[in-house]
Amino acid sequence: MCGIVAATARREVSEILLEGLRRLEYRGYDSAGMALIDNEQRLQLHKYQGKVSALEEAQSLNPILGCTGIAHTRWATHGQPSAANAHPHISRQRIAIVHNGIIENHAELREDLREAGYEFVSATDTEVIVHLLHRFVHEGKDLLGAMQATVARLEGAYALAATDVEHPDQVVAARSGSPLVVGVGIGENFLASDTLALRQVTDRFIYLEEADVVVCSAAGLAIYDGAGEPVQREMKRVSGDVEDADLGDYEHYMLKEIYEQPHALAATFAKASAGDVDASVFGDGAAEVFAQTQAVQIVACGTSYHAGLVARYWLEDIAGVPCQVEVASEFRYRKRVSHPNTLLVTVSQSGETADTLAALRFAAPEEFIASLVIANVDNSSLVRESDLAFLTRAGMEIGVASTKAFTTQLVAFLMLALALGKERGLSVERQQCLKEGLRDLPDLVKQTLKIDAAIEDMSAAFIQKHHALFLGRGIQYPIAMEGALKLKEISYIHAEAYPAGELKHGPLALVDADMPVVAVAPNDELLDKLKSNLEEVRSRGGELYVFADKDAGFTDEPGVHVLAMPHAPEVLQPVIYTVALQLLSYHVALQKGTDVDKPRNLAKSVTVE
Ligand code: AGP
Repeated sequence: MCGIVAATARREVSEILLEGLRRLEYRGYDSAGMALIDNEQRLQLHKYQGKVSALEEAQSLNPILGCTGIAHTRWATHGQPSAANAHPHISRQRIAIVHNGIIENHAELREDLREAGYEFVSATDTEVIVHLLHRFVHEGKDLLGAMQATVARLEGAYALAATDVEHPDQVVAARSGSPLVVGVGIGENFLASDTLALRQVTDRFIYLEEADVVVCSAAGLAIYDGAGEPVQREMKRVSGDVEDADLGDYEHYMLKEIYEQPHALAATFAKASAGDVDASVFGDGAAEVFAQTQAVQIVACGTSYHAGLVARYWLEDIAGVPCQVEVASEFRYRKRVSHPNTLLVTVSQSGETADTLAALRFAAPEEFIASLVIANVDNSSLVRESDLAFLTRAGMEIGVASTKAFTTQLVAFLMLALALGKERGLSVERQQCLKEGLRDLPDLVKQTLKIDAAIEDMSAAFIQKHHALFLGRGIQYPIAMEGALKLKEISYIHAEAYPAGELKHGPLALVDADMPVVAVAPNDELLDKLKSNLEEVRSRGGELYVFADKDAGFTDEPGVHVLAMPHAPEVLQPVIYTVALQLLSYHVALQKGTDVDKPRNLAKSVTVE
């Protein structure tokens, strides 16, 4: 999703801005631009549809230089991807602005501004902001006052950074609903959508809070809260993660991240000291909350939602707690009835997903006894705004398709089931068995990664296909959903998942030789039922690709292609089958030649509704 980088310094900053944009490329975007105030106090601008490399090329042919500047990667919401719609947007050669978010009342503001004589050259919602800001400085407000007056007129979500040629040493910024951090340097200051963009220049960061406005110059920073009062915000040192952005010997981040899973899973389980999982790993006060918890409501989007669907099986089976799971964009707008003493659990790799954050923010205080987030990014909005937090240790995930974040979320949920189970009389033997399973999981994933070559061979059968069906039963149904999501997002093959028992209630009509059917078939108590469902596919000429436990009794035959999976205890099966399906989608996408790490139209962190 859109990325912002801004800098104000005593040195020339164009290369810092460009490097910041390169580091934000993983978020997904369709155009890029930057504006600098040169040493003659003129606004200089480059913006292009396409990759940051187009901007780099323009910069090398026709350099624009300055000590104050703003830059942006745009993920189109209002107006198609084009140079005209790319940011920065400019008003009367004086103000330049970059924006992340959506302004909901842009149509009405546009009318007002047109009547005031402002001309619009883009189809974006952002352009109203730049003209509003111009209008207020033109009326005599200083940059801070103009930004405060501007944001007071905006409805929606925004992170903004702006420059004014009349104040060439300043960048003014504001946020509400979209993330923005200040990078604190020595004699220079920066702003960005996430810390990674600025780790090239600093390790000291201030996470702006909702409705904050900040004025940055090389000499210092002044932050004001939503009421316009000056405030101090805590400065944090950020370490680690930078090396995660290095591809090493891998061709793609997605493959690197798939292979990092044994380490990520072990690191996440290592949060429990000496492998003894209890409430304290979920934060101070978790023990009191868990003691009262009578139900769990999980809310998330996309892959994180699938982790929640898996967790429901564990929370009900292991902890004996009733559990509901819902996608955040539906949950947030629904009139709801909760069980008494329900714990709200949000799940998010980024910790910034707009719908998940809104679900947390708009939950009524009396609806839940507390909120717990399972997230991968420290200091993210969900982490800061939840009562309790569990940080997975996946390390930075750059590929848009979530892999290691998902499997570490599953580890977090198993630990949650254990901790809640302990409160509710889970037997010591079962606790022991789960802890041993969590300890053995990284090795099992390593064994699964060894069948990569066989999965690659199987993947060739998918590249000419337009559709695929994924089947699972029980806890493997959400794993089939996750497998289908991975395939569709990176290879653009339409893929659907069904609980195998639902086949004959409709989807069987789709089955023919052109519809590969992928089945998740561990050796569990539903295996025989699943086998009958797969027979239904075979007898209609469907081609089966079965990811099956070695002992599940499947053999290769015409129309049945079997991938032998390592034998695993039932509770670990969802993780290892996920890893195999991740590899399948990776190899299909690779052979199709799609952009594996940055699939079309998608963004890594979905910070708009
Ligand atoms: C997963 O491969 C997707 N890119 C997407 O579904 C993602 O899981 C979803 O947008 C939620 O993101 P979050 O975990 O950062 O909240």
